[in-house]
Amino acid sequence: MNPERTLVLIKPDGVKRGLIGRILSRFEDAGLKIVGTKMVQIDEDFGQKHYHDIAERRGEQVLHSLLKFMTSGPVVAMCLEGINAVENVRKMVGGTEPKGALPGTIRGDFAHMSFGHADTQKKAIENLIHASGTVTEAEQEVFLWFNMEELHSYKTVHEVHVF
Ligand code: CDP
Ligand code: MG
Repeated sequence: MNPERTLVLIKPDGVKRGLIGRILSRFEDAGLKIVGTKMVQIDEDFGQKHYHDIAERRGEQVLHSLLKFMTSGPVVAMCLEGINAVENVRKMVGGTEPKGALPGTIRGDFAHMSFGHADTQKKAIENLIHASGTVTEAEQEVFLWFNMEELHSYKTVHEVHVF
């Protein structure tokens, strides 16, 4: 079985709170391989491309506040590779709403916001991280965020044991 690739973003709240290192460490500790990474300030157009289905799934108001949030500062984008990387990373990230996200997950450990409170403030849920939801979504998102030359090929010490 070939390793999968998935897209992870440390959102502007994670960058501003100085959590880049701690979040990255969790993926490194799990043996996932960082095959590409960069810091990017996105604009509204790019945000629309990345969140192209949000208005349909979550409504126009969520799209509006999400774009405002995601363009409020730089994000750290990374492409991670590993066995069932999409599913494994989503498990480590936790549920969308930090209030309900389990302890031990990134969203559960570093945030506590509820949908209800964010909605009354007309603010996006600042939940630190984005991770591709499905293998198909991951392929599209990695392609949107990275050029081929920005994705690297090397062997980690973990792979020496796995393969
Ligand atoms: O990020 P995830 O795949 O868990 O959830 P999503 O349904 O794809 O929504 C994308 C992002 O929109 C979330 O991570 C939240 O930051 C934001 N969102 C929000 O601000 N308010 C909501 N009611 C729902 C989602
Ligand atoms: Mg999603």
